[in-house]
Amino acid sequence: MTAEAAKKHHTIASGDRTILPEGAKMIPVYVMGKKYMLPETLTIQKAIEYAGYQFIRACGCRGGICGACPTVWRVQGDYQLHFGLACQTVIEENMVLAQLPFFPANKAVYDLEELSQIGDAVGMLYPEVMKCVGCNTCTRACPMEIDVMEYINAGMRGDVARAAKVSFDCIQCGLCSARCPAQIAHYHVAQLCRRLHGRYILPRATHLESRVEQILAGRYDKMLEELAGKPEDELRKLYVAREPEPLDSKNWEPKDKTYL
Ligand code: SF4
Ligand code: SF4
Ligand code: FES
Repeated sequence: MTAEAAKKHHTIASGDRTILPEGAKMIPVYVMGKKYMLPETLTIQKAIEYAGYQFIRACGCRGGICGACPTVWRVQGDYQLHFGLACQTVIEENMVLAQLPFFPANKAVYDLEELSQIGDAVGMLYPEVMKCVGCNTCTRACPMEIDVMEYINAGMRGDVARAAKVSFDCIQCGLCSARCPAQIAHYHVAQLCRRLHGRYILPRATHLESRVEQILAGRYDKMLEELAGKPEDELRKLYVAREPEPLDSKNWEPKDKTYL
């Protein structure tokens, strides 16, 4: 594609760091069953947008963190179904793409305050974990490289602390659940374990309690009202000009301590 031709594609993807695929080879990709010629440099997410579709679901951070974009594809002539994050997977020739709005995984309804028998909670709310056959497919499917089978097995044993720790980086994308022969909703199990861990095992966070009291007492109301009344371009400038927290933020405090 020439530079001139590339410039005509004003709506190529909607990510804030879109790079025009100038000079990229165009390859055939099937989106929702229809063939398109798309620049080989694009991710699945951007390729679908390049083809003219607009995401109103199944798209969030565009950076592999929010877990909103799990997708499924096959490459023509290959019997395997593939799963991955649409914002992280680059297209390849003859891919056949479909985008799922979400995985309809089973989510238990519970009141955390009534789950004081924490060792039994996983088995009670998600009894299907006992059907795990130890195939480890869930671990291999995880884009965050989490040992998914390990946290499911910890949950099964009632070791909530271990399950919470191992699953800490879960982005709830559901790719593990898409592959599990036992139909387990791993990420909901993991979330239950992290909630139980936070509620019953970790010590109370006293600084959090005092901050919640400040919020309820209205300490931030005026500041939030002022922000809500500002136009978007002013908010953008404020955001860019804010004092960034350093990577090594141990004991760090901002210069302006008005709202600490
Ligand atoms: S994919 Fe399902 S059955 Fe296989 S190890 Fe993971 S939880 Fe167990
Ligand atoms: S554990 Fe499952 S839901 Fe969580 S990030 Fe890994 S694949 Fe996604
Ligand atoms: S859009 Fe957030 S992980 Fe892909």
